[in-house]
Amino acid sequence: MTTGVRAYRPEDRAAVRRICFETGYMGEPIAWQWPDEESFADVFSSWYTDQEPGSALVAVVDGEVVGYLLGCLDSRRVDLKPSLAAHHLLRRGLLVKSGTAPLLGRSLVDIGRAAVRRDLPHPTFLDDRWPAHLHINLLPAGRGQGLGAELVHRWLATLRSDGVPGCHLETWAENANASAFFEAMGFTRRGEPTLMPGFRSRTGGRHHIQLMVQSLSLEPEP
Ligand SMILES: CC(C)(COP(=O)(O)OP(=O)(O)OC[C@H]1O[C@@H](n2cnc3c(N)ncnc32)[C@H](O)[C@@H]1OP(=O)(O)O)[C@@H](O)C(=O)NCCC(=O)NCCS
Repeated sequence: MTTGVRAYRPEDRAAVRRICFETGYMGEPIAWQWPDEESFADVFSSWYTDQEPGSALVAVVDGEVVGYLLGCLDSRRVDLKPSLAAHHLLRRGLLVKSGTAPLLGRSLVDIGRAAVRRDLPHPTFLDDRWPAHLHINLLPAGRGQGLGAELVHRWLATLRSDGVPGCHLETWAENANASAFFEAMGFTRRGEPTLMPGFRSRTGGRHHIQLMVQSLSLEPEP
């Protein structure tokens, strides 16, 4: 078996979108909660593959793409076009489809309650100390072989060589495996977890977002 990490290529786009959907619920398929693959991949992966493909990496096992790291050098650049959201909400019917309709309804209720408590979640974390961010996901077949570490180390090396002072990420607070992995990669938790509107566990529990950060020494590694 040969494994490795390489730069993203345009022909990897379909595999990245598939992996995004197949790992969207803390490493498990998200379909039971958000059944529409097209809109899920558009919301969570398309900005990175289409607007900043040079910051994307893929993990490969025996020639098959089994995972990715989608990066962004400057989080201020990310924008989810309202027209894209409108397309999915209206033209693809997310507002009325089973699965997404309850999720979107719960999101509105969660956001409304948070607004009353003056505790609205921040849509985007922007801080000049950690301007870059990443998303990483591997299919089960790619996990536990060092590929995640290789993806993150390669991304952090790029940030250092570009003079970027730090990187942040947001992970599901309930995803203990991911938090342990990111801590092993040098990230530390920052602040308390905040509510993730709309998403629920299989038993109806709420999910939360944990912010993690890593400052980068811009000196070359010894
Ligand atoms: C989290 C994930 C990216 C880690 O990638 P990976 O290739 O499985 O991890 P690696 O084999 O490179 O592990 C590197 C180190 O991280 C730590 N680590 C990895 N998984 C861990 C776990 N489940 N529990 C504790 N530590 C873990 C270990 O220190 C490990 O080093 P070691 O193997 O020498 O002990 C991958 O498992 C994955 O995609 N999971 C599902 C999706 C997900 O949760 N993504 C994060 C969303 S924010």
